Amino acid sequence: MGKYKVVMSGKTWPNAYEKLAEHCDIQMWEGEGKIPQETLRDWLRDADGFFNIGHITVDEELLEAAPNLRVISQSGVGYDSVDVEACTKKGVPFSNTPGVLVEATADLTFGLLLSAARRIHEGYEKVKQGNWETVFGVDLFGKTLGIVGMGDIGSAVARRAKASGMNIVYHNRSRKHEAEKELDAVYLSFEELLHTADCIVCLVPLSNESKGMFGEEEFKAMKSSAYFVNAARGGLVNTEALYEALKNEEIAYAALDVTDPEPLPADHKLLQLSNVLVTPHIGSATYETRNRMADLAVQNLLLGLEKKPLVTCVNE
Ligand code: DGY
Repeated sequence: MGKYKVVMSGKTWPNAYEKLAEHCDIQMWEGEGKIPQETLRDWLRDADGFFNIGHITVDEELLEAAPNLRVISQSGVGYDSVDVEACTKKGVPFSNTPGVLVEATADLTFGLLLSAARRIHEGYEKVKQGNWETVFGVDLFGKTLGIVGMGDIGSAVARRAKASGMNIVYHNRSRKHEAEKELDAVYLSFEELLHTADCIVCLVPLSNESKGMFGEEEFKAMKSSAYFVNAARGGLVNTEALYEALKNEEIAYAALDVTDPEPLPADHKLLQLSNVLVTPHIGSATYETRNRMADLAVQNLLLGLEKKPLVTCVNE
């Protein structure tokens, strides 16, 4: 029996690659930007496994083109670009990498809030330009943080906020009794949270229901002093509405690790504003975390190739 054929839609870390190469023949996309869907379809024609990295669209058309596929293993937690139902219909197990990226993503999320509140990035720019002048920000201590989407990452952000002396309110599909007990987090309706919070962090998975959940009405409902952070998916926010809210000072500041579109073009009007901070989707981007994600994705892939249960299967 020969080696399995595995397609990788992007590069991964040396340890993970070597582990995979012991058991598989690998075809890996090393080109600029995303692998074109047509190329991916072509490569998957005789593939046994697909290592999905880089927000690749997995739909019926792609699955139809891959009749031998035994498993799709994604290095990444959010699977809004994957039609999980279609995978299930085709009998293809699909896994992601939850858990291992929680703390890194929470660090980045809280870091964005801290940097926005204290204008750390603006201060550095000034120093580089030879302007040694005071840059004023706002306190986080004593303020109320509203977390929309209180999953593992939301709870990890709440712990960091609590340590900084913030009060926590949250909105989630279900109540999180542990967070309420441990962190004195108070459950509010989405509308109540928008009115109440001084800072709002969005950590909701993107779906048909959540798409555009932060629009004109929601920004108008926020305090004019509100800080808004999005570290989940750009599509949760109506970019035009956010731009208008920031331009008209309906809210004070936005710090975004994710945008719609992505990448955000350098000449995008959002970047002309002085009350916005944008990072290039780096929530999980630490050496340690990305290695853990890759290792878990390889583990899932190898299990799937052997038709064994995956560690973190989405469509069990
Ligand atoms: C994820 O894992 O979903 C992050 O957004 C990185 O892609």
